[in-house]
Amino acid sequence: MTIAETSPSRTINIESLSFTSGAHLLLKRALRDLPAGARLGVRASAPDFAVHLRGWCREQGHEYLEGDDQFVAWVARGASAGGRWRQAERAGLSDAKVNDAVRAVPPADWGFAARGAAIEAGGPSFHYALQRKEQVWAENVQKLYAQAVAAQWNPQTAINWEETSSTGAADEELERAVAQVMTYLIENENAALQTPARFIAQIHPHFREVLQLLAVQIADEARHVEVFTRRATLRGGELGLSTVSGRQSLKTLLDEPDFALATFLLSVLGEGTFLNLLWFLERHAPDPLTRQIARLVGQDEARHVAFGVGHLQYQLATDPALRERLAMAVTRRHEALSQTAGLNEEVFDALILLAAGSWRPEDIAAGYARAQTLKDEMRAGRQGRLEKLGFSSAEAAELSALHTRNFM
Ligand SMILES: [Fe+2]
Ligand SMILES: [Fe+2]
Repeated sequence: MTIAETSPSRTINIESLSFTSGAHLLLKRALRDLPAGARLGVRASAPDFAVHLRGWCREQGHEYLEGDDQFVAWVARGASAGGRWRQAERAGLSDAKVNDAVRAVPPADWGFAARGAAIEAGGPSFHYALQRKEQVWAENVQKLYAQAVAAQWNPQTAINWEETSSTGAADEELERAVAQVMTYLIENENAALQTPARFIAQIHPHFREVLQLLAVQIADEARHVEVFTRRATLRGGELGLSTVSGRQSLKTLLDEPDFALATFLLSVLGEGTFLNLLWFLERHAPDPLTRQIARLVGQDEARHVAFGVGHLQYQLATDPALRERLAMAVTRRHEALSQTAGLNEEVFDALILLAAGSWRPEDIAAGYARAQTLKDEMRAGRQGRLEKLGFSSAEAAELSALHTRNFM
């Protein structure tokens, strides 16, 4: 095959290659750089090649010209041929490290197109409620996604399931306390899985890293449900109690239709509070296995909190009025839950017993004090995160105190 340059035309020898074996690739390549109206002389020996070429030219918007003794035919490049590419707009740049690669408001009809793809005009309309960068982005999203992928752990191999502590009456009761805490944790993990999942299909895929991060976050929660369930049933015991007030508190997260507010209530306040609980279990759980689980889950949760804080900081930078809406969301939720019983008493009693480690009165007193310290740490942690979002320390203290007594 040769392409000879004879301005303003060129020639190509397709040899015996037919249209059923890929002749169009060579023709497209030969025509690609020709200006509109320039001609391509085609030599070819496949049977009926001219007939197929004529049809192909019609399809592609080129003009078919009768051949002569040297050429099967001539093809005059059409003005609109290849227009799909010539007029296509680039959907930003693939690499978000390049400044401005991620558009502030990508057109909805880019749809599922890869960021950086050449977008043929037209096509179906997509509707994304979360279509503006400020609605979903965080300065730390790429870093967090890389960390999330690198930190994925396999529940089967990362945890030493063989570990068992000695048995005895006291241990049996501690085991029931562990199962009650696990039951409560699983319920919260279900909320943490489904709440962000609601929003994934509302986010413009141009914000690739946000989708990727949330997808991994949801996979984290799925793993947390698995390990807490395995731990709860490890020694053949039953799961504990799920209360109405716990489910009421968590349902308000799933029912929140605004991504910023849901992120705030779930990730900043709820998962933030959960960090303290997981660190508490890492310190006070009776067996190394439960402590190990709490440590691994806590690492994941810290990332979930970091994205929530990072995103809201990003959105608040362009939309400071959001701060008032965040405050109102806490107040509204507090009022909605004011008639509920708050934290499952069984859960709090289980935490006291775990921190006590035995039924001796002096140990129970110490466990009770540790559980009170946990509440103080939770309150202070929330206050610190609220201050990171620009609330004054007085506002932060007030809002922290209004957070659900269910912890999440
Ligand atoms: Fe989780
Ligand atoms: Fe989480």
